Amino acid sequence: MKTIFSGIQPSGTITLGNYIGAMKQFVELQHEYNCYFCIVDQHAITVPQDKAELRKNIRSLAALYIAVGINPDKATLFIQSEVPSHAQAGWMMQCVAYIGELERMTQYKDKSAGKEAVLAGLLTYPPLMAADILLYSTDLVPVGEDQKQHIELTRDLAERFNKKHNDIFTIPEPRIPTVGARIMSLQEPNKKMSKSDPNKKAFISLLDDEKTIEKKIKSAVTDSDGVVKYDKENKPGVSNLMSIYSILGGQSIAEIEKLYEGKGYGDFKMGLIEVINNKFNPIRNRYNELLESSELDDILDKGAEKANLVAGKMLKKMETAMGLGRKRK
Ligand code: AQP
Repeated sequence: MKTIFSGIQPSGTITLGNYIGAMKQFVELQHEYNCYFCIVDQHAITVPQDKAELRKNIRSLAALYIAVGINPDKATLFIQSEVPSHAQAGWMMQCVAYIGELERMTQYKDKSAGKEAVLAGLLTYPPLMAADILLYSTDLVPVGEDQKQHIELTRDLAERFNKKHNDIFTIPEPRIPTVGARIMSLQEPNKKMSKSDPNKKAFISLLDDEKTIEKKIKSAVTDSDGVVKYDKENKPGVSNLMSIYSILGGQSIAEIEKLYEGKGYGDFKMGLIEVINNKFNPIRNRYNELLESSELDDILDKGAEKANLVAGKMLKKMETAMGLGRKRK
């Protein structure tokens, strides 16, 4: 069975973009692959976090993984900081990466733009991400389009390590969904939807209640021609909403265009609100049950135990390959 690794940062509550670009795929893939799903809290601290909020988000994200349909008997779910091999291997991968290639990463440029003080961790995020993936001999990494560049760098670092030290790493491939790889902001449809967007109207979180979802969709940016038609170039707002409708509602774009022919954006938005609620209401109910139970801690304890075992073995191989530590007599 081939192996999958993917992580999500607990830097806020999962958005519809994270769900469509990442989590939805995880649920489908868990039946065919040996899966590791990680709550990457060490990545989250590459930008300032409120500690109480971060703790809350870690637990919330764990509950959401299960609530969307991850089966802990099939997949290993764990918290990155509970598996110390990640940080250790991350350091080694920093010593394989060059500053120049890290400075070229789009996410680094976007997140550091206009900031007076940028944490060093924001620059060295990709080598840690490479370590996350390589520790599990991962074949496939399901991600949204924004992470493609980091996966390409992971491949380069793995190849460099294999050549220079020892051939121990599997070279992973990205797996990017054909539709919904980039869900856009509801307020600025040329920018991707992000859970840490300071404008809360820009994203729908999986935990938003029905009233909030209604308000956010009603205030989503469209255009003035009033026709429900997919045209990414000229109608980015409407096209983004149509993609969301299509993926969550299971109808093709052509079917949606036909359904709303001769109707305005008001009707279309009401239909979309219903589609989102139908999908997210059962997730929210299961989430609330989980948050109250001890089931979640048992799942995370078991996940960390398994991940520590697998990652620890690869870490030893990395140390030996680089000549760290000593050989015991
Ligand atoms: N808008 C998006 N459309 C499709 N997929 C997306 N992903 C993120 N945004 C979209 C995918 O979600 C997974 C988890 O991402 P992450 O939490 O590790 O970091 P991110 O990509 O930086 O996501 P956010 O929401 O934008 O977080 P913040 O605001 O903290 O930076 C990844 O697979 C990602 O591709």
